[in-house]
Amino acid sequence: QRARLTVHPSFTVGEIDRRIFGSFVEHLGRAVYTGIYEPGHPTADADGFRQDVADLTAELGVTAVRYPGGNFVSNYVWEDGIGPVADRPRRLDLAWRSIESNEVGVDEYQRWAAKTGTETIMAVNLGTRGADAAAALVEYCNVPGGTAWSDRRRANGAEEPYGVKVWCLGNEMDGPWQIGHKTAEGYGRLASQTAQAMLRADPTLELVACGSSSREMATFGEWERVVLEHTFDQVDYISLHAYYQERNGDRASFLASGASLEAFITEVVATADAVAAKRHSDKRIRLSVDEWNVWYIDDFAGEDNLELAERPRLAEDAYSLLDAVVVGDLLTTLLRNADRVAIACLAQLVNVIAPIMTEPGGEAWRQTTFHPFALTAKHARGVALEARTETPGLATAKYGEVPALASAVAWDEESGSLVFLLTNRSKEPLETTLSHAGFGTARLAEAVTIIADAGGPRRDAASAALATPQPVDKVRVTDAETSVTLPPESWTMVRLS
Ligand code: AHR
Repeated sequence: QRARLTVHPSFTVGEIDRRIFGSFVEHLGRAVYTGIYEPGHPTADADGFRQDVADLTAELGVTAVRYPGGNFVSNYVWEDGIGPVADRPRRLDLAWRSIESNEVGVDEYQRWAAKTGTETIMAVNLGTRGADAAAALVEYCNVPGGTAWSDRRRANGAEEPYGVKVWCLGNEMDGPWQIGHKTAEGYGRLASQTAQAMLRADPTLELVACGSSSREMATFGEWERVVLEHTFDQVDYISLHAYYQERNGDRASFLASGASLEAFITEVVATADAVAAKRHSDKRIRLSVDEWNVWYIDDFAGEDNLELAERPRLAEDAYSLLDAVVVGDLLTTLLRNADRVAIACLAQLVNVIAPIMTEPGGEAWRQTTFHPFALTAKHARGVALEARTETPGLATAKYGEVPALASAVAWDEESGSLVFLLTNRSKEPLETTLSHAGFGTARLAEAVTIIADAGGPRRDAASAALATPQPVDKVRVTDAETSVTLPPESWTMVRLS
């Protein structure tokens, strides 16, 4: 089978916002406790943060991290997590039926964010709380001083404000599993009132309204419309959450997850722009895909069936090479839509459906999914380019025929780096020509691939060790075009300079 991509420097989709390489740390399972934070661990710093995890976070290339949830935030009392640790309450977290020690709260988290050089995307509780608690948290974080909450922050050791810019107005409020879940109308009104109060506390904030928890929600579409009719003037982004897994051995549909995410993005953009049109507004709401990943959610017991425990092992999915190929493909989808997708968070960062795993007191290691993310975050810089694509189709049970070749192309004019991220979703090798005549001299800098079945279709720690991307043979480069054979069911990066 053959495919061809044609690119030109003037086929610009949009600037790649570095926040597309975001991730997510929730007070869930072992993401915080024995994940990023473990006092007494051999690598722990003076604040109790694991250096091995901080180092892997840097290697992963994560730019922004959403915190503190997730479902957790919808019953979180942030004031429990400030002040002397010995005085903090041990709470029953209703989202995950877990015991929350509150050892890590907003101040500790901000120390970790500074240590890792990541921007914080903060979420506020709109499940059990509202405008009052949210505005107080903005005051605590962002007002320099001279008010009750800002002075509490200074008294707690942070003289300078944290300057958290992006805030999520709640989490998955459309989901019946969410503590305090709401109708679109109920959420829209509350989100608008909360936004008003938060923006009075700090007018420079960028706000994210909750969109749908998945494209499959019965309320999808109508939810976005109603929520944006309430919040359009106050928010900059609407969220979407997207998790994928292989079901009933339907490998082709799983490999086509990126095509479903593409449609989801297109539908949310259309809905947001319809709200703009009704208002005769030029404003364009951008997208925050602030939870996305492969998640074997069918293996998850469900929130109602959990044993009450402290830092339980929850959703510690082990990923295969096939999962890594799908994660790479989902990233190409985000990049192809760089004109509208401003923020995206791989959910999550450590231990919980995560690219980084840890053992308490022991090692931290990379899952298979670590690699496509790290390579993309490192090399996909500058602008995303549209690629004219000629490709065979792939028949899927769930999504009909989808392109067998999915791609994203990033062009960094300053460094002269042209990066092709290519997924071959089909079972056949794909003889692919990359046509790049308008870019001047081309030299191969790197070509590496992850093949779904290399080393067997395992979903365990052993597959992680096999996941280091392998060099691709026989890549032929001229100034006009590059030819490369993409292995069956693979994710490949070809980098020209
Ligand atoms: O990331 C795990 C959970 O998935 C989050 O808490 C929730 O927002 C989503 O349903």
